[in-house]
Amino acid sequence: MISQNTIQQILSRIDIVEIIGSFIKLKKRGTNYLGLCPFHNEKSPSFTVSPAKEIYKCFGCGRSGNSIGFLMEHEKYSYVEALRWLAQKYNVEIEETETTPEQKLQQLSADSLYIINGFAQKFFSDHLFNSEEGRDIGLSYLKERGFREEVIKKFQIGFNPEARDSFAKAAINAQYNIELLQKSGLVAVRDERPVDNYRGRIIFPVHNQSGKVLGFGARILKTNDKAPKYINTPENEIYVKSKILYGSYFARMAIDKADECLLVEGYTDVVSLHQAGIENVVASGGTSLTPDQLRLVKKYTNNLTIIYDGDSAGIKAALRGLDLALEESLNVKLVLIPDREDPDSYVNKVGPAAFTQFIAENKKDFILFQLGVMLQDAGTDSNKKSAVVNQVAETISKINKAEDFTKQQDYIKQCAELLKIEESGLHALVNKFIREKITKEETRVNREVAGNQLTENRQPVEIEDDAAALLNKDEPHERAMVRSLLEFGLKPWNGEQRVADHVFTEIEVNQLEELIDNKNLIALLKIYKTWYDEGLEPTAKTFLYHEDNIMRSLAMAVMDYNYEISPNWKDVYEGKIESREDLYKEEVFSTLNYLKLRKIKRLIYENQRDLEKTQSSEEQMVLLQIHQHLKQMEIDLTRKLGTVIFR
Ligand code: GTP
Ligand code: MN
Repeated sequence: MISQNTIQQILSRIDIVEIIGSFIKLKKRGTNYLGLCPFHNEKSPSFTVSPAKEIYKCFGCGRSGNSIGFLMEHEKYSYVEALRWLAQKYNVEIEETETTPEQKLQQLSADSLYIINGFAQKFFSDHLFNSEEGRDIGLSYLKERGFREEVIKKFQIGFNPEARDSFAKAAINAQYNIELLQKSGLVAVRDERPVDNYRGRIIFPVHNQSGKVLGFGARILKTNDKAPKYINTPENEIYVKSKILYGSYFARMAIDKADECLLVEGYTDVVSLHQAGIENVVASGGTSLTPDQLRLVKKYTNNLTIIYDGDSAGIKAALRGLDLALEESLNVKLVLIPDREDPDSYVNKVGPAAFTQFIAENKKDFILFQLGVMLQDAGTDSNKKSAVVNQVAETISKINKAEDFTKQQDYIKQCAELLKIEESGLHALVNKFIREKITKEETRVNREVAGNQLTENRQPVEIEDDAAALLNKDEPHERAMVRSLLEFGLKPWNGEQRVADHVFTEIEVNQLEELIDNKNLIALLKIYKTWYDEGLEPTAKTFLYHEDNIMRSLAMAVMDYNYEISPNWKDVYEGKIESREDLYKEEVFSTLNYLKLRKIKRLIYENQRDLEKTQSSEEQMVLLQIHQHLKQMEIDLTRKLGTVIFR
């Protein structure tokens, strides 16, 4: 983990104009900068960068965020990668926080797995080329299939001898730890003896983006065996199947250049196509594509072409993941290889030129293809047909980015034709799905940002009168208090005391739940306090750049940063109005005490309900006294609040 201290240093040097300016051309316009939005196609610039607020916003497509958000979106960096990029740019030395023993162990284990895999890869390659068994069985098999030495070497393909434990012995001799060897999937322990898992198999190493070996696919050589054709590395710290596309290390440049990624099923398909000079190709292993894999593709191109054999069981699996591809506005095409061939055998049969031509001529649009398959399945069954209509409408509704609008209209037209239904009807149906999705999305975001779920232990006060309803719903006041802390926390309060000191003497961190309903706001305040106590100087910015997405969204919401960048009122009314800046003490005071007042009002309300319920006169007396006491507090507080100006 990067230390909070380092993050602060990075944040203090961030210049959003400089950062975004290194990717797109920006022109100064008033206090802001303007450019062509990199996230959608536009001819006149609507992409605004505000150096004052340190955010960007596009008025065309609506995207907005801060510097880190920009790097994450534009460069497809993770949060940590974006920080590292910034650290490098601004020459900030990265200080890693003490990792927990658990994290250390995990890191150690991951590092060791890479090392073991590297050792194994060399062992297998060595045996393929330099042992008699490897040459006679492994290499001759590969050559018979048409793989040439240079491509075998490039992909570091190898061979694990048939003997029970030739690899295990070598690894143990080289001091590798048996637990890790088991974790790597290379070795198993049977009858208390280590044994090779991939005996007598051809080994395909699987590389990560920087060429290190994550794991292996081990192909059997004999036919008609009951054993599985391929054995793959089990999931471990580094081999996470859902994030891997076989061949991506070798394909990245070619994908970028061709602006297209070909997706095939198998290891051998990738290797053969490479050998044929078609290098923009990766394999999914025949399962449906995961969001992580799609993201990997999207780093390099928007055009994904899936090439499967015509009778592959994998087609349906591949199609399943693809609605996601549409949401990511990937253009997905599909080609089926004829005559029971797969890409590997087909390219060997017809040669590179004919293969490339075949792909170009037979690319089918994914949506239309899927519709064809479904219509065939449905036959004349009218129930099934109407299910198809729904399915297609839902699929089309996933194409939902402004820049893809024309594409969506085209699909509606073409699909309506194929389905023999009214275009306007399909249109309406697609819109229905879009609306549903938006509603769902809004609810989800609101929940996340507002954390609106009632706390478990606070029974929702039954909403009988409007006042109670209001009391339960005035989250803006909670936000206002947090906002005043984020904005003014480091300013002086009284003498040595700063606003943050004052706030945290007024409210106990472990009693925040009594004052504030929104769980996320409570979490934010707790983080603030921890940082503040550690001597860091938290501001809104610290939270806008927080690693947790919810904290970032929350800070954005609290600071109203999501609203359009408006002219600075101070510029307009120079000198005529007092700004919040000037009146910050009053703002801190009133927002804080408002929440206290609300708490008292709630107590009064609850007390009154108890009073209505109770039968015993003794209890009534006690409750009445409490009521008196609370009322007095309310009056005092109201008076105190009345002496400051409310805005
Ligand atoms: P060849 O038959 O040598 O050309 O290999 P292939 O890559 O064409 O294999 P196939 O078309 O049969 O399968 C496609 C992909 O599915 C393989 O490359 C593997 O990734 C995966 N696969 C196939 N069989 C198995 C299996 O038995 N187990 C596992 N885990 N994966 C398999
Ligand atoms: Mn094959």
